[in-house]
Amino acid sequence: MYKLIIKGGQPLNGVINAAGSKNSALPILFASILADSPLTLKNTPFLSDVSTTLRLLMDMGSEFVLEADGSIFVDSSKLSNLVADYQLVKTMRASILSLGPTLAKYGEAKISLPGGCAIGSRPVNLHLKALSELGADIKVENGYIYAQADRLVGATIDFDQVTVTATENIIMAATLAKGVTTINNAAQEPEITDLIRCLIKMGAKISGEGTSTITINGVEQLSGTTYEVCPDRIEVGTYLVAAAITRGKITIKKSDPKDLRVVLEKLAESGANISTSKNTITLDMEGKKPKSVNIKTSAYPNFPTDMQAQFTALNSVADSSSTITETIFENRFMHIPELSRMGADLSLEGNTVVCRGVKSLTGAKLMATDLRASASLVLAGLAAKGTTTIDRVYHLDRGYETIEEKLKLLGANIERVQD
Ligand code: EPZ
Repeated sequence: MYKLIIKGGQPLNGVINAAGSKNSALPILFASILADSPLTLKNTPFLSDVSTTLRLLMDMGSEFVLEADGSIFVDSSKLSNLVADYQLVKTMRASILSLGPTLAKYGEAKISLPGGCAIGSRPVNLHLKALSELGADIKVENGYIYAQADRLVGATIDFDQVTVTATENIIMAATLAKGVTTINNAAQEPEITDLIRCLIKMGAKISGEGTSTITINGVEQLSGTTYEVCPDRIEVGTYLVAAAITRGKITIKKSDPKDLRVVLEKLAESGANISTSKNTITLDMEGKKPKSVNIKTSAYPNFPTDMQAQFTALNSVADSSSTITETIFENRFMHIPELSRMGADLSLEGNTVVCRGVKSLTGAKLMATDLRASASLVLAGLAAKGTTTIDRVYHLDRGYETIEEKLKLLGANIERVQD
């Protein structure tokens, strides 16, 4: 295993490029199952979750080529195995996204239940209920989901809770269903819009992207295409907080400011000077201590839960007190005890963290737990006095492409070393 060693106190300065979006690349890779010919995906991030997805698809019979320019050529048109095995699914919950496409294309699927993770129980009941409403026969036995449908039939799906991957699963399943499917209370994340745009290029008939009502007219077949994945707004947001917490100035190219409106507003509220163009965001903290900002997470277009831990780190060294309320996941607070060991003054009251800004944090030996909590520990280490060591860095590699290399480009004193 590897760990990161960070010597903090260095303001970040410089220019980096945003990577492609993890949460867009994953559903689009699974959408390749729907196509009768290969899909080429450009701007795909080099992440362990992408590798896990490719391994799962290969296990089901897909073939793929990693091109020199970073694009992925994937042919999932002739699957020989309709099972997503527990050994792979347990390492990545997003494997549930193989269910909708496999069922729609082949009429059957056997997918391991993903199980929970550090941030919550992560049930999939909404996925299964909606697929049943499209006519699927669903059974759950011995930790597996068994789904069967001669042909899915379009229906009106009313999600009583906003859910990203369940929305994606139903959109993909409905592309090959007989008739029209309307999804009400659909999630509106930019990654869903990206998936829809790719499916339309593959021949799907979908309208309403970017809104909470998506309509899908089922077609007989979909073809492969070439598609460029949108920028990763959470990776971009994380590096912007890294610049704010170290009082530096950075520019991020190949990003999309439109996807980060609320996060940019909160960074401006913390005192950052933000300037944007079509594909570039510059944050200049002008050497100032951050101002405290109150945060409440909720579904897009509101403040993203995936940026909550990062802002908890920022508020830990802000000028006064603040509250951060997490409304999406029941246990997305694994970073709190670790930040507290660095001297942060944080107290959890129900699903709200009360942050009292301290003058500075001090480096400590820390352990990463889940992807975004781990990112918040890196941010705290960059700002802390002294040295911070973070174990179990594999959590970070799931969602951040060569994080220490990008931070070094920005002047951070950070090394990845073997345990
Ligand atoms: C997606 O997870 C993202 N993952 C998560 O990003 C993100 O945090 C989350 O959406 C919320 O924005 C991917 O896109 C691969 P949900 P997902 O279904 O789809 C409950 C990261 O860091 N729920 O929108 O699994 C659920 O428990 C990851 O990149 C049910 O009860 O989240 C949660 O409380 C972490 N039953 C709420 O809905 C269901 O069947 C929203 O979850 C499904 C969800």
